[in-house]
Amino acid sequence: MGTTGEQRAGAARGPLARYAGRSLGPLEQLPGALGTAVLALGVLLFLLVAVVTSVVGVGLLALPAGLRGAHAVAERERARLGRWGPEVVGPPPPPQRLRDAAADPATRREVRWLVGHATAGLLLSAVGMLLPIYAVRELTFPLWWQLLPDDQATDALTFWVVEDWAGVGPVVAIGVGWALLTVVLTPPIAELLARRGRRLLAADAGADLSLRVAQLTATRAAALDAHATELRRIERSLHDGTQNRLVGVTVLLGAARRAVLRDPAAAEEILERAQDAAEQALAELRSVARGILPPVLEDRGLAGALTGLAATSAVPCQVDVDVPVRCAASVEATAYFAVAEALTNVSRHSRAGRAAVEVRLREQRLCVRVTDDGAGGAVEGAGSGLVGIRRRVEAHDGTLTLTSPPGGPTTLTVELPCGS
Ligand SMILES: Nc1ncnc2c1ncn2[C@@H]1O[C@H](COP(=O)(O)OP(=O)(O)O)[C@@H](O)[C@H]1O
Ligand SMILES: [Mg+2]
Repeated sequence: MGTTGEQRAGAARGPLARYAGRSLGPLEQLPGALGTAVLALGVLLFLLVAVVTSVVGVGLLALPAGLRGAHAVAERERARLGRWGPEVVGPPPPPQRLRDAAADPATRREVRWLVGHATAGLLLSAVGMLLPIYAVRELTFPLWWQLLPDDQATDALTFWVVEDWAGVGPVVAIGVGWALLTVVLTPPIAELLARRGRRLLAADAGADLSLRVAQLTATRAAALDAHATELRRIERSLHDGTQNRLVGVTVLLGAARRAVLRDPAAAEEILERAQDAAEQALAELRSVARGILPPVLEDRGLAGALTGLAATSAVPCQVDVDVPVRCAASVEATAYFAVAEALTNVSRHSRAGRAAVEVRLREQRLCVRVTDDGAGGAVEGAGSGLVGIRRRVEAHDGTLTLTSPPGGPTTLTVELPCGS
């Protein structure tokens, strides 16, 4: 079996092209690595000062900022690594509280990476950058050495002054040496920095992600379930309420038509009943529509809608909403239904003297808390209300927490990603 000319040429070009790619690739990567190393050094110095001054208390305040800085530099490095290989998915920002951050394995790995990258990483990437610069300088030396002032014609490391062409030869030889060092050393340097970065900066894929995937799969199933239940509820209320009333209206209209000539007075009465039935159908249709997405939310926003709910509550209820942005409509609706159910429960079961609703936006999450000073003892699953709320909330990847010891008080907390 003979090889074609083209194949031979490809085979000859292949290793050369691959070799050039292997040496040039790292050269492109190193400036980025040097950049993040310089940033890492800045953050490391800041952290060191914070640690030293935390002995007198001041630094304790600066440490969380330092850790967030480390996370920001790590994010840059992740983006850089992502450009030269598979994407590196990082953990979320470090926890706010210092104690939690110190215990957080992802934060500890980020700090370990920062220390190494700010010291050895900085040195290695600087060397990796200087080698090709020296190589180019020395190799091009014959082209421009004569333009230099007599006493300054030296090689890069200023060992000697070049006075004639005989002195240029060794400089070029040194240039060849630098070029060889560049080709030999830069790939492993870039490789070393990238491998360490990928090892320390990727989210703990084994633990966190599989847990997260399981969680998302469960909430996705719950979301579809909640969706189906919701559709069934709407279908039932349309069928049992509105549709039945409209059937009644048509029957009555038929009877009225038949009666109109025979007995106009009876027809008049039947028409009146038909009108009543039509009005009831309309009212039910409105209430079904309100149950899908309360129009009051659109008109008055979450704060206005919740104030309206509290005003109709049998137990006096104080509302405190401080949310500077609008969240996604479905999120606001879920918060609204959760508060509506909680306030209905307060009126029906708690025997409370007063209730309170508080809504805040924390770290892009809508936090809703409903409290009452009643008898407590609420149990999720004893009825259908709280279970339905949990389904709705989890469908949005949110959380619901209920604390209700016997004797009270009862607190229902719902947290939802705002999604604005
Ligand atoms: N705020 C509350 N205070 C005291 N008990 C409560 C409160 N909310 C709920 N409960 C108790 O928890 C049970 C479950 O509530 P829920 O799931 O809403 O079902 P229900 O359809 O009965 O309202 C209720 O039956 C009630 O006994
Ligand atoms: Mg209820």
